[in-house]
Amino acid sequence: MPNANNNRGLWVSRMGFVLAASGSAVGLGNVWKFPYITGQNGGGAFVLVYLACIFAVGLPIMLAEFTLGRKTSLNPVGAFNALKPRSAWVGTGVMGVLAGFLILSFYGVVGGWTLAYVAKSLSAGVTHFDSPRQAGEFFGSFIANSGEIIFYHLIFMGVCVAIVIKGVNNGIEKACDILMPTLVVILLILMIRALTLPGAWEGVRFYLYPDFDKITPQVVLIAMGQAFFSLSLGMGAMLTYGSYLPARENLTAATVYVVLFDTLIALLMGMVIFPAVFAMGLEPAEGPSLVFSVLPAVFSQMPWGGAASVVFFILLSIAAVTSGISLLEVVVAYFVDERGWPRKKAVLVLGGVIFALGVPSGLSFGAWSEFKLMGMTFFDLVDNVASNYLLPVGGMLTAVFVGWVWGAGEAQKEIERHETRFHYAAIWAFLIRYVAPVAVAAVFIAKIF
Ligand code: TRP
Repeated sequence: MPNANNNRGLWVSRMGFVLAASGSAVGLGNVWKFPYITGQNGGGAFVLVYLACIFAVGLPIMLAEFTLGRKTSLNPVGAFNALKPRSAWVGTGVMGVLAGFLILSFYGVVGGWTLAYVAKSLSAGVTHFDSPRQAGEFFGSFIANSGEIIFYHLIFMGVCVAIVIKGVNNGIEKACDILMPTLVVILLILMIRALTLPGAWEGVRFYLYPDFDKITPQVVLIAMGQAFFSLSLGMGAMLTYGSYLPARENLTAATVYVVLFDTLIALLMGMVIFPAVFAMGLEPAEGPSLVFSVLPAVFSQMPWGGAASVVFFILLSIAAVTSGISLLEVVVAYFVDERGWPRKKAVLVLGGVIFALGVPSGLSFGAWSEFKLMGMTFFDLVDNVASNYLLPVGGMLTAVFVGWVWGAGEAQKEIERHETRFHYAAIWAFLIRYVAPVAVAAVFIAKIF
């Protein structure tokens, strides 16, 4: 096996890495998923649990993934293998690759919805609704249309494939540069519009006022799963991105930046959606269609709403693509590094397999909506298995591996390679060795009993 580093490439600049990692983290998870599961799980209390998971569990694990990646310069499977050869720990990496397949399959479907809404905004098809209900019905009939859904899912996967074929440092870095700040600006504008709708205050209350009765083990599990999902953790995506890092990078600063930025976008999005939901008399627990019904209704009620809608859905599409490529990259890196596949073949074959796997998810809101496994549609099942089980378990194993098996001390040496002193090493070691594994385990145990 040739040294994996040779044709893997490195990030061009320090900022490039931080932007790409933020690009992976910020995506449909923040803009589409966070509002709808907050709405389904009780609002303010859910948000608090989510934030606790982000800072106590997600942040330390992100640093652990970056460190593993930079230390080994390998994909998740190779990384565990390199540090603990011929042990069962490779299983953690294998699980990650599997999670990548599953997540991208339904992520690509929602990415397709986003692309479709770019097209529909351009033709003013989604910004002239007389009532919010009309916007919701329009979306409902759109996602029931199998041909259109699969077409846009294919386009989304095609874009990801085209970028990943070129490799990380060509495609991925550049795409993230302008996008992120622009996204913040447009979210702020939308937030102001939403907050000034009559009746918006009820939504702010729902979103920020915690009602602790609503916290059950299931709610905590979903909040934890969402923390992993939003930060792209638990399946080696951040590990893989870290593997393209040169040694001089300050890993701790990058971690803090990515976590704060990702959380900011999610919280802002909630401040757009919930005021609008309540002002317009919609249902916060509506599910995956929430954002796509509410936002067009907001755009329909604002000056320049058509233009704002175009810009918004373009930005969201780019954010979705920069996340989708990080999912695809994990799967590809594994087949390239471990199986010796040429990059191009890996990207094309795996992209095709993931597209096919996504088709039943795409049909879950229409042709196959009656087909349920364990009470869930195919779409919900794949999301649930990957986000609420594979990611937290993968994250927990990563924490145990770095904290105990490889060792927090060894990890600290890697973090401090090239003169960056890690002042919070003791706190981090405590979080990664005890808090993160125990928190994840406790949630699973509480859920079982
Ligand atoms: N974090 C991304 C989002 O919020 C999705 C994503 C990209 C992801 N890479 C991942 C989720 C790896 C889990 C694991 O949209």
